[in-house]
Amino acid sequence: MVLDIVKYGNSILESECAPISNFGTPELRKLVDDMFETMYAARGVGLAAPQINVGQQLTVIDTSSGENPDAKLVLINPKIVKREGQQIGEEGCLSIPGFREDVRRAAHVTVRAHDVEGKEFEVSGEELLARALQHEIDHLHGILFLNHLSPLKRDLIRRKIKKLQKAGEW
Ligand code: NI
Repeated sequence: MVLDIVKYGNSILESECAPISNFGTPELRKLVDDMFETMYAARGVGLAAPQINVGQQLTVIDTSSGENPDAKLVLINPKIVKREGQQIGEEGCLSIPGFREDVRRAAHVTVRAHDVEGKEFEVSGEELLARALQHEIDHLHGILFLNHLSPLKRDLIRRKIKKLQKAGEW
């Protein structure tokens, strides 16, 4: 089922998410399936639970956009345990449609997380995967890519969004 994606302005996007402790339930499996479906429908490479109005530490990522089943990642209660180097690249967010900006991120990260069954695993990534991991894990702590921009750029985007909201176009 394709779910509605919450847009910037909704406070859930800027709130800390709760860790998940109930693993392997049909509800959790269904939520993960729906998140992948929603992400693919929106042509995104990552989607975090708060973006579908669920304040829990869960995110899905697929940098192959559905081309490679092995690229599907489900991360529950994820933590970045290692960061190396730097990369600067353009980033967007399904909750902030129409806006893309350069964001500085670590070039390589290692993440420790739980899968749907509750089993702990580690995943390492560089380039786009490293960027997606950092962007999505930020979401679980109420941090958006806007928070990584200069105050000037951030305020400019906020003002544009406010105008869109007033015009009923957001
Ligand atoms: Ni995002």
